[in-house]
Amino acid sequence: MNTYIGIDLGTSSVKLSLVNKDGKILKSVSMEYPIYYPQSGWSEQKPQDWYDKTIDGLVNLLDGEDKSSVRGISFGGQMHGLVILDKDDNVIRPAILWNDGRTEKETKYLNEKIGKDNLSKYTANIAFAGFTAPKILWVKENERDNFDKIVKIMLPKDYLAYKLSGVFATDYSDASGMLLLNVKNRNWSEEMCQICGITKNMLPSLYESYEKIGVVLPEIAEKIGIPTDTIVCIGAGDNAAAAIGTGTVENGSCNISLGTSGTVFVSFDKFFVDDKNALHSFAHANGKYHLMGCILSAASCNKWWIEDVLKSGDYRLEEQGLEDNLGENEVFFLPYLMGERSPHNDTSARGAFIGMRPSTTRKDMSLSIMEGVAFALRDCVEIAKASGVKITSTNICGGGAKSAVWRKIMANVLNIPVVRTEIEEGPSYGSAILAMVANNEYSSVQEACQKLIKTKDVTYPDEKIVAKYEKKYKLFTKLYPALKDVYKEF
Ligand code: XUL
Repeated sequence: MNTYIGIDLGTSSVKLSLVNKDGKILKSVSMEYPIYYPQSGWSEQKPQDWYDKTIDGLVNLLDGEDKSSVRGISFGGQMHGLVILDKDDNVIRPAILWNDGRTEKETKYLNEKIGKDNLSKYTANIAFAGFTAPKILWVKENERDNFDKIVKIMLPKDYLAYKLSGVFATDYSDASGMLLLNVKNRNWSEEMCQICGITKNMLPSLYESYEKIGVVLPEIAEKIGIPTDTIVCIGAGDNAAAAIGTGTVENGSCNISLGTSGTVFVSFDKFFVDDKNALHSFAHANGKYHLMGCILSAASCNKWWIEDVLKSGDYRLEEQGLEDNLGENEVFFLPYLMGERSPHNDTSARGAFIGMRPSTTRKDMSLSIMEGVAFALRDCVEIAKASGVKITSTNICGGGAKSAVWRKIMANVLNIPVVRTEIEEGPSYGSAILAMVANNEYSSVQEACQKLIKTKDVTYPDEKIVAKYEKKYKLFTKLYPALKDVYKEF
């Protein structure tokens, strides 16, 4: 049976899944690479690491599998990262990632001098520090030699697609996060190119996420042992790919991802911009649109707490008993370890525990981490609601979604049912589905999702816990405004 490879180029690792055309995952592997924090609030990775680990991952994935059945490869990738290449296709500097906060000045310039209204007219979005355009301005301002060498500008997954196929391409969902795309008209914005001092020919060709851009380069096919006519499909930004992987394609349907970042993703059939552009208005991987709120630290807060602070590494143990205390915790955690994107757009924000007493336990603090992330995601949901978007249930994916307690917290903080799909490999599964559509196994992304995605379980809210969390959330919303000015002095 024909098989497809989905590659999710994440922030901590690349995850690869081999999926047959009936949607069964035959094997998944994951390979880690380092993330560099050269200065406080900066985050970078080496594109060469992504490529090397992807090739190792492909070799591992296919070891012992029927390589001749592979028909297509596609990608889901961490969004917004700036990858720049020179005239010889050498990477000019490490990639500046989606959660890097160095562009405070450039973001301010774009939002205040160019103006939010103009940005919204040119792109459907305003500037957030993690977006690609402010990063281009930062390189122009701070590393002029590097800026002058730029011949190609691309996003992380597009670098992999380029290395595997030789085609310089991107898709509309990922391109939306560059602040260079006119999302409504689906073309590169002349105005934004001018503002950033770049030309359109530095930017990749635009494709739908489910389109074939070419076939694998012969040397790649030989290296990993797959047929030379294996198609390469461009795929999507990781959140759009995850939405495909959880079947979030119907108008108004929602997916929440609890990964390194946390996102609330609402799918729309029509182009839509919320009041004040507080949420991102991006293209979806099914040819339509979505609104998204993104918090910069989600499951990464739990990882930081359990691995780096507690040095326990035992997620199960740390979670034991938390369920008995839902809605009762006096401790609050603000999850702004990397500053915050939605809704505060504040690179100076920091993480904080508030409300401890001598009786506070390790368990209270562990619980506050999950709750703080849930409250921050509720901030995004509230903005969507204020723009008239009704969210009546949500799918959930990402590492944090494996935790039953966290799913219960999410259901009760948001007061909606939380649905887990049978296959939990959100972005890698979604990108494999996109490759299937590109190879005509299914007539549309919609059809593929209907046929392939099945529900595993649903976590329902409990009225009593909802009422308790309602009060806690009100208090949570007062904490960031109280600290906002203090953060500026850090
Ligand atoms: C979305 C965003 C993150 C990254 C994580 O806008 O910045 O979700 O895509 O990989």
